[in-house]
Amino acid sequence: MKFSDRVLRVKPSQTLVITAKADEMRKKGINVIGFGAGEPDFDTPDFVKEAAIEALKEGKTKYTPSAGIPELREGIAKRLKEKNNIEYKPSEVIVTPGAKMGLYEIFAVILNPGDEVIVPAPYWVSYTEQIKLCDGIPVIVETTEENGFVLTADLVEGAITKKTKAVVINTPSNPTGAVIPRNELEKIAEICLKNDILIISDECYEEFCYEGEHVSIASLDKEIRDITFTVNAFSKAYSMTGWRLGWVAAPEDYVKKLTIIQSQTTSNPTSFAQYGGLAALEDKGKFPSMMKEEFRKRRDYVVNEFLSIDGITCPVPKGAFYVFPNVSAYIKGNIKSDIDLAAYLLEEAKVAVVPGSAFGKEGYIRLSYATSMENIKEGMRRIKESLKKLS
Ligand SMILES: Cc1ncc(COP(=O)(O)O)c(C=O)c1O
Repeated sequence: MKFSDRVLRVKPSQTLVITAKADEMRKKGINVIGFGAGEPDFDTPDFVKEAAIEALKEGKTKYTPSAGIPELREGIAKRLKEKNNIEYKPSEVIVTPGAKMGLYEIFAVILNPGDEVIVPAPYWVSYTEQIKLCDGIPVIVETTEENGFVLTADLVEGAITKKTKAVVINTPSNPTGAVIPRNELEKIAEICLKNDILIISDECYEEFCYEGEHVSIASLDKEIRDITFTVNAFSKAYSMTGWRLGWVAAPEDYVKKLTIIQSQTTSNPTSFAQYGGLAALEDKGKFPSMMKEEFRKRRDYVVNEFLSIDGITCPVPKGAFYVFPNVSAYIKGNIKSDIDLAAYLLEEAKVAVVPGSAFGKEGYIRLSYATSMENIKEGMRRIKESLKKLS
């Protein structure tokens, strides 16, 4: 094989690996409960589907402008003003095939070989790999369970070198559900301004904030806005993960460059999906609010269940739809790591969870509670029973 060094640097997504393994077991007739996947169990709302079907019927099936259809760019800019209190012109918004592609385009546009990007751990699996794909170096800073896994300005400041190009912030966070409070964001922004560092703000879970408020760092002031890429998607908020539709908002010169990458790779986000996105914008957050209330009940249940297990600690996630319990008390004997524990839970309890090390944090596991309450109850019962056998 004649592989590039680039591809050899990159690991496959662990969450997708676990999901595939659980699917394989299900095909064999094994009743596996999946806490692995990072997507809502709700269907895409009908009004979104209908808008896309209408677009298909009307023949909106051809290439669109690379940066997305003008009305969607305009709609997203309006939403960023109304919901996030950030002024962006439509020309400062690019519609992307999912937030993931938007993030990749950002790294491709800003990184030169050897440039460093500060990534707070536990981190979403793709940041580090995308940075490496774009010849950059991820510099991991460790947030702590004691501090609710919240990124602090001190952590950012301590990781800055002459090569630092950007910092990634993800609030609410996948995998921990941590929400960065306004005062901390202000301090982080100040440090970035002082050190001439760009900010990549991944806000994919903004609709799911159970305590505290979601603050977009770019809303703090114009100077901060000008050094920030605000990334978001319809994926989680409108249960549209398979549609591949997200956006990046940034100063126009950056958006022009992101558009060059997009035009030479995927050309444009899928035409009719963009019309679904337009319909989702018109809903003005009613659908995600409904999901949020359901997720809140599930979160409370899962956290309480974990807290009732001997030796486990579990910070209460303030947002997103994941819990990240500390299972280090069960890493002993034949179970040498969180990876072994996840494998044990899959074999023994027939429950799929993702090991914390996939997110750069050993001794933890991540569970997505975006699955039915019935599954959650049965899954937690199985986990408790299997862990009991280990103690
Ligand atoms: C933090 C975070 N950012 C980005 C993404 C990617 O979102 P999309 O499906 O829109 O590409 C995910 C998906 O799991 C995520 O958890």
